[in-house]
Amino acid sequence: MIEERQHVFYITTAHTSYWFRVTAHGQLEHLYYGPRLTPQDPTAVAFKHTSGLGSTVAYDEQDWTYSLDTLPQEYASFGRGDFRDSPLILKMADGSYVSDFVYQEHHIYSGVAPSKTLPQATDQPDTGSQTLYVTLRDKLQAITLELAYTVLPDSDVITRRVVLHNNTAKPLVIDRIMSAQWDMPNRGYALHSFAGAWASEMQHHVQPVTDGTIVLNSLTGGSSNKQNPGFLLSAAEATEDTGWAYGVNLLYSGNHESRIQHTNQNFVRLMTGINSQGFHWSVAPGEAFETPSAALTFSDRGLNGVSQHFHKFINDNVVPPAFQHQDRPIVYNNWEATYFNFNEDKLFALAQQAKDLGVELFVIDDGWFGTRDDDTQGLGDYTVNARKFPHGLPAFVQRVHGLGLKVGLWFEPEMVNENSDLYRAHPEWAVHVPGRAPVLGRHQLVLDLTQPAVQDYIVQQVSHVIDTTGIDYVKWDMNRHITDMYSPALADNAEFNHRYILGLYAVLRRIFRPRPQVLLETCSSGGNRFDLGMLTFGPQIWSSDDTDPIERLTIQQGLSYLYPQSAISAHVSASPNQQTLRVVPLSTRGNVASFGVLGYEMDLNALTDADRAEIREQTAFYKQYRHLLQFGTFTRHPAAQPQQFRWQVQAGDTAIAGFFQQHISAAHGYDCLPVTGLAPETMYTMASKPQRIMLSQYAGLLDHLPAAQGRTSIPDAQEHYTGTGALLATGVMLNNQFMLSGYSDQVRMLGDYGSTLYVIQPEQE
Ligand code: GLA
Repeated sequence: MIEERQHVFYITTAHTSYWFRVTAHGQLEHLYYGPRLTPQDPTAVAFKHTSGLGSTVAYDEQDWTYSLDTLPQEYASFGRGDFRDSPLILKMADGSYVSDFVYQEHHIYSGVAPSKTLPQATDQPDTGSQTLYVTLRDKLQAITLELAYTVLPDSDVITRRVVLHNNTAKPLVIDRIMSAQWDMPNRGYALHSFAGAWASEMQHHVQPVTDGTIVLNSLTGGSSNKQNPGFLLSAAEATEDTGWAYGVNLLYSGNHESRIQHTNQNFVRLMTGINSQGFHWSVAPGEAFETPSAALTFSDRGLNGVSQHFHKFINDNVVPPAFQHQDRPIVYNNWEATYFNFNEDKLFALAQQAKDLGVELFVIDDGWFGTRDDDTQGLGDYTVNARKFPHGLPAFVQRVHGLGLKVGLWFEPEMVNENSDLYRAHPEWAVHVPGRAPVLGRHQLVLDLTQPAVQDYIVQQVSHVIDTTGIDYVKWDMNRHITDMYSPALADNAEFNHRYILGLYAVLRRIFRPRPQVLLETCSSGGNRFDLGMLTFGPQIWSSDDTDPIERLTIQQGLSYLYPQSAISAHVSASPNQQTLRVVPLSTRGNVASFGVLGYEMDLNALTDADRAEIREQTAFYKQYRHLLQFGTFTRHPAAQPQQFRWQVQAGDTAIAGFFQQHISAAHGYDCLPVTGLAPETMYTMASKPQRIMLSQYAGLLDHLPAAQGRTSIPDAQEHYTGTGALLATGVMLNNQFMLSGYSDQVRMLGDYGSTLYVIQPEQE
């Protein structure tokens, strides 16, 4: 809900309040962002202005207590006495960089703020979403800023963006324009950011917010695997489950920048938006510039609280409406099984096996088109390779459909190989600076998505394949960072990166909005573009080319701070793993991937009968609990021992707790299973998921394992046994922990890389 009383704005969500007001001098003063309060006189929460002393600059000669440098602001101007980092740097028509924006008017509308060019949150019916537009006007120039605040009450998220209108007679140049900025008193904040690289995305970093400015950004042309646009702040006392914490993310897939500044009045200034490095934008007279939307949330239930708000926001307000809360199919993808070396017979044999194992969607990855027999050629030519598919693609898709499987295809539409028909026909479509040889990445160049002709080509090519084959799913890949940023059509190539992303969004909108039934999974060498912007077009993202489940624990846990399980595409691959050569039990490969959108990506011909039986059990279990696993409330539980991960999903009176162990410790102490969200005095049963265990790993220990009592033969390296009901117990929830004797022993018996999933449900009478 949004209320305005005497120029105080009260934004209220289910559990949070966000307040700001117009000061006597016209600036917007940030008052409060925290646990929900009833709108009241804001002086109780407002920061007391102190007198301006020494070098402080007073904004008004008549009022020495009013300095912009000590005012907690909602969106600061530049060059009028606020010496903190500025969200807005404009080269004004008079040649100066000084701006002075003050309140002009405001309007409150029901619903979200529409945008024709940039991703926006959508609202659920009858949830009371509203948008507040506050218009600020520069005191000297006819330039206005519309600050839009959209409140999504049920998700506890507020989105913010800015639209700048140039109503002067001269062009103005934007050097920096952030989507949102606000100032808060410092509560001893720690910053949680998610950095990485190819195959090691979303590594969780924690650092104190102390002196100076921390900048989190990307310059790769995408939101990048180097630094995810999302971050969290936790107050000094906060934990995973308790205390004040904030979350910030951006609905944008290009170069981004967030600045977290500890300022001299012991305030923290936060801002996020398009990266201002290498960015300029000219706004002609009468024209406007719109920023991407930022998403903000707060929770007094710690980091898990923030994550849960963002998960609900993405499931309810971000992903395409046709996929909101819709169960996602179990995928088989042929990439790690065949790479480029396949034909229709080989694929059909894999599809038959996949069907038998319980898979629902068969995805043909890279290599089905043009001369694409390796990654040096063919990119750009989306005509089927007749040698691999002598009967054509529509016939093959029909055959696989005939097995009762959905079918998907891989594309990398933004890229081109020099060795391709497309490049030979249109070398001018590849991004490069005239006279300078462009830098290659994975032997490929970037297509210039700022050009309408290139956009049309991609829309036509991808749409044609979708429509003529009847596929159900598209994997949209993008396998290199962007260099040599230049387009001949642009007057100022500092606009290139943002215009590229606008071009990408236009293409995605034109292909997928008329085809809402097609499930789009986006990808960029794994998780190189895992962001809210892409999620508005496709509800799930391939998280990493690192399919080693032990490394995936860290990657998926990092993702969980900002993104729900339903967005995290996770596949079971071969062991030894192709990236790390690590040998990991099939049970753990399945258990890790089950906390995302489950898929399989290995050579099915190499499976043993025992593997097949276990995969059938995994897919059956996943289908039984799929909605809970994909959409249940996700909680991270702090690990009792180093190298352990404990995740939980819960909905209603059922929970699934996952325990994962990277290394066993000889001196493993007493342990309890933490479970939250269930009723305290109800009797629950807890059953571990059926799974098989490689006996060779546990020889000598098995006598201690309850289910081992049923085994019939002496273990050897190849033998498996079913651990069905390996731990079946009845217990009571006490203090959010399932009290259970024997749990510690079982944990120890799992060994290195071991894991279990426990289903916890009320005891049946
Ligand atoms: C990228 C993707 C992989 C696979 C290959 C195909 O690396 O992340 O999943 O699709 O491209 O070339």
